[in-house]
Amino acid sequence: MNKIIYALCFSFLLASCHLNKDKRIDKHSYSEPHHVVTTHLDLNVEVDFKNKVISGVASYHVDNKSGKKQLILDSNGLKIEKVTSLGEECYFRLGDQDSILGQPLIIDISSRAKEVSIHYKSGPNAKALQWLQPNQTAGKEHPFLFTQSQAILARTWLPCQDSPGVRFSYTAKVKVPKGLLAVMSAENPKEKNNEGVYTFNMEQPIPAYLMALGVGNLVFESLGKQTGVYAEPEIIQKASYEFGETQAMLTIAEKMYGKYSWDRYDMLVLPPSFPFGGMENPRLTFVTPTILAGDRSLTSLVAHELAHSWSGNLVTNKTWDDFWLNEGFTVYFERRIMEQLEGIEYAEMLSLLGKQDLDDEIASLGKNHKDTHLKLNLFGRDPDDGLTDVAYEKGFFLLRLIEGAVGRKQFDSFLKEYFSVNAFKVIDTEEFVAYLNTNLLNSRPNAKEKIRLEEWIYGAGIPDNCPKVKSTKFKAVESAIHSFEMGYPLANIKSELWSSHEWLHFLRHLPKDIDIDDLKKLDTAFSFTNSGNSEILNAWFQLTIPAGYTKADKQLEEFLYSVGRRKFLKPLYEALYKKNPQKAMRIYQKSRANYHSVSTQTLDAILL
Ligand code: BES
Ligand code: ZN
Repeated sequence: MNKIIYALCFSFLLASCHLNKDKRIDKHSYSEPHHVVTTHLDLNVEVDFKNKVISGVASYHVDNKSGKKQLILDSNGLKIEKVTSLGEECYFRLGDQDSILGQPLIIDISSRAKEVSIHYKSGPNAKALQWLQPNQTAGKEHPFLFTQSQAILARTWLPCQDSPGVRFSYTAKVKVPKGLLAVMSAENPKEKNNEGVYTFNMEQPIPAYLMALGVGNLVFESLGKQTGVYAEPEIIQKASYEFGETQAMLTIAEKMYGKYSWDRYDMLVLPPSFPFGGMENPRLTFVTPTILAGDRSLTSLVAHELAHSWSGNLVTNKTWDDFWLNEGFTVYFERRIMEQLEGIEYAEMLSLLGKQDLDDEIASLGKNHKDTHLKLNLFGRDPDDGLTDVAYEKGFFLLRLIEGAVGRKQFDSFLKEYFSVNAFKVIDTEEFVAYLNTNLLNSRPNAKEKIRLEEWIYGAGIPDNCPKVKSTKFKAVESAIHSFEMGYPLANIKSELWSSHEWLHFLRHLPKDIDIDDLKKLDTAFSFTNSGNSEILNAWFQLTIPAGYTKADKQLEEFLYSVGRRKFLKPLYEALYKKNPQKAMRIYQKSRANYHSVSTQTLDAILL
């Protein structure tokens, strides 16, 4: 009898579990878009530099799919003042605060509701926002604000369904102090007006992680028919020279993978504290000024962000576990653009440098670590901690392997079709695999067998069928290193025609335990310490720190004080900390206030 009762209870429990089954696809968002989904946003906000607050109203159009009487949005640190719908105030509540995800904003709505308006303010220390003092800008006279929403920080500056699978179009009205220009990931104004009120329209639907706003003393310069750059007046000339090839890149990209879907492609050059190299905000890529090398040598980054207009912004990873679908495809596409623009030898150098980054990343994670899989499992973690070079470079090498196995022509027409069939949709890894098999590999069993897709996607480390990349240019660099190691004079090295990439290869392959005397010789010959190229400086400091070459200390400190790009800060602080923890802490304490939260989050874990 007891057994029967237990069995009954058990099946009842199972059934009720089943009824309440969590249907959320994206575990990094509280929203339930399968019930009620936001389809359009009208944002009306004011940017208050004095109090470091964005405040106003976010009005959403909603599509109620299931008749549920609740709209759930993500929020993190927001102050919600009032919610209205159908002309009346709605009851709302904020759920428990999670240190990574923030809080669900749960709003009671009528099942007839077509629009819901949230009156809100951003909180102090909103992670997406960096408020810069005038002295942190190029002009030193005006403040500056920029947002960084990827991966899950949009919810710190506006309530939203913060999941890559939820797309909405938007309009915005943004009021800023007089004398400043506001720009967004949307159709943008080209110049300031006296009121300081700017309006925006983004007619293509985009996920929240692509919502972006920049405010500063900005001017615009056209680069080509559909392309241009915004920057502070002090650097606009330098920027427009550096990015002079952008229109050509766009033409190449369109030819390869289909029409550009976003009308214009402009860039916003940010102050040096921007924590990334670039961010693919649609219609307006955000870029670090550390790629303004003066010789266009670091502009593959522009090709990368532009490529995201297809891989990522058009065909989007369904969850952050599928991040490689955004980044691996983008690196592949970036290098194809650079190949056409600069030639195959140039692109191969980029691929080899990428392979070195991948080897380093895998060595530091450990070759059996789960984060070396292409398909990630970021459940319960901050996605920012799991998004590594693996997605970029292992993803790139897998696509290159497929290209080699099926032939470039076939792979290109597959990709072109992939971008058009999946445009404005999300895709996860499993759907991609199915699509790839159906449309390319099932009819080519030999290629399929060669590729070993499962191992690449669900396995650790780098499979042994990883394509080999050769570079005659890098071979020459390796001979130069050899000759230096043999004690021949540096004047023998024929480096006049070397690009930044050859210099990077050179610096990365000098002996790790190089001593002060050899560093001095190199510095005298090539002036690395005073290089104006951030990549070269970074690679150089990687040698000077462990060796204790103090002649570069002033420049190193200055670099760490002004540059907030995490990719540079992390290895430099790690090296400094290893050599001299007190010194690392002293410099960090002095510079920390200049960094964006994305960078301090990583660095605090190393240094505090
Ligand atoms: N979308 C990324 C930046 C990003 C990734 C922000 C994950 C937040 C979370 C962007 O496209 C990117 O990859 N930037 C790279 C440059 C690129 C050339 C590899 C960067 O910033 O270093
Ligand atoms: Zn990217």
